[in-house]
Amino acid sequence: MTIQQNLSHTQGLGETNSIWFKLTALTKGNPENPMQTLQMMADRYGPVIAVNIADQRVVFLTEPEHFKHVLVTKADDYIKYFDGLKPVFGKSMITHDGVLWQKIRMPQQPAFHPDMFAEYIPYFLQAIRTKMDLWSKLAETGEPFEMVEQTWTLAADMICKALFDRDMPFNPHFVFKCVKTYTDVMEHKAIRMRVLQGEDGFSLTEENAAKAMEIWASVPPAVFAQNPNEERQRTLLKMIETVVADPEVPEFDQQQAIDELKQYLWAGTETTALTLAWAMYLTSKHPEAADRIRKEGETVYGDREPAAADYSALAYTRAVIQETMRIYPPIWGLIRVATKADVIGGKEIKPGDRVVMFAYGAHHNPKFWPDPEEFRPERWMGGTKGQVKYSYLPFGAGKRSCIGGAMSQVENTLALSMLLRRFRPEYLGKEPPGFSGTVTLTPKGGLKFRVRELS
Ligand code: HEM
Repeated sequence: MTIQQNLSHTQGLGETNSIWFKLTALTKGNPENPMQTLQMMADRYGPVIAVNIADQRVVFLTEPEHFKHVLVTKADDYIKYFDGLKPVFGKSMITHDGVLWQKIRMPQQPAFHPDMFAEYIPYFLQAIRTKMDLWSKLAETGEPFEMVEQTWTLAADMICKALFDRDMPFNPHFVFKCVKTYTDVMEHKAIRMRVLQGEDGFSLTEENAAKAMEIWASVPPAVFAQNPNEERQRTLLKMIETVVADPEVPEFDQQQAIDELKQYLWAGTETTALTLAWAMYLTSKHPEAADRIRKEGETVYGDREPAAADYSALAYTRAVIQETMRIYPPIWGLIRVATKADVIGGKEIKPGDRVVMFAYGAHHNPKFWPDPEEFRPERWMGGTKGQVKYSYLPFGAGKRSCIGGAMSQVENTLALSMLLRRFRPEYLGKEPPGFSGTVTLTPKGGLKFRVRELS
């Protein structure tokens, strides 16, 4: 293999001036669990830690009351940070702030109202059925497969069918690989360090990352070009088309529409998929939980498929999803940029500081969660009373919290229930699986599985 010296990459996720790149310096230590160093830092230096990395001041927060301060109380003074992720999200709403953000979010919000979920469920079920057919074939051959790829393709199918009224007009396995090529910032960093040190014997992937983004950019136009499945009028895509045609909202142009789709196909699939994949891992390690999910499904919907009215009764399955997101929060840290001087926990915050809210740290803090390393879905069965507010942040908090969080719980609860009722997934990877804390908390090298079909 050769070293390619020309580093004219078009992407920015792993660039040295990106926060994602800088954070890798803080996550050295246990390469299988980069969160441990951050947890140790929090134990040692307290709840507000300011560090200078290169020319950048990064402030780490680990206390729920400080999360509330930034995300709720002073939300307008802390804006979004998206530098390295622009190629992924374009100018979609997730990247904006203030009035523009509001103008873009408002017309789409109704698509995520819980009243809509009953309309989406038949399409979630269609996608789950397709996945079950595939797993049935995989069970016959006993072929090992990558769980995150399986759950990503399922999540993408659910979004396309339910929210866009389309079948996936792209090869989801191929697009999944592009997504992963771009986001593996740890690899970007490792590669660049070796280049700087003049080592030999590896190849660069930065061109691949740029290519991956080109392919990614071609996905939303393909969705728009695809014929609708049923000409449904109440879909997210219809809402987007309506606002594009509205002269009163000139900011919401065709490019905005394309970028909104990019956002949904990433923010709405990667996170949902990671949650379901980690849930498969945890339930394969806790067969009693998998059995309880099967029994709950049997009691609630028996031999038919679950309907909207069954969702609330799938309390244990939902608790497994909630507990999975506590242990493996897909978004392990929320990032903002301070726009004004402030004081948090007695420490000075300067305009321009990158503020990182360490959600994973709060989720694993014994102050808020007894025996935090234990997988205990039962802790969710009595509701959320007694929990410290803002100590659980899988979907963020305040006005910028996840638009699709509640919907993803429906998707994942139904998928986990139905897939486990028919299959017994067996985890084949190393124990415990390592993970990298890039933008998302991603299993290192994936989660290898095999499935058996239950009789
Ligand atoms: C387990 C699944 C999911 C997790 C863990 C998750 C997590 C998050 C988090 C933490 C944020 C806030 C980030 C911040 O404050 O910096 C967010 C925002 C967002 N999420 Fe999700 N998400 C999930 C599923 C979804 C789904 C299913 C969709 C849509 C189909 C979605 C679309 C969005 C959008 C559009 C935003 C930006 C909202 C705004 O800026 O106003 N997410 N998500």
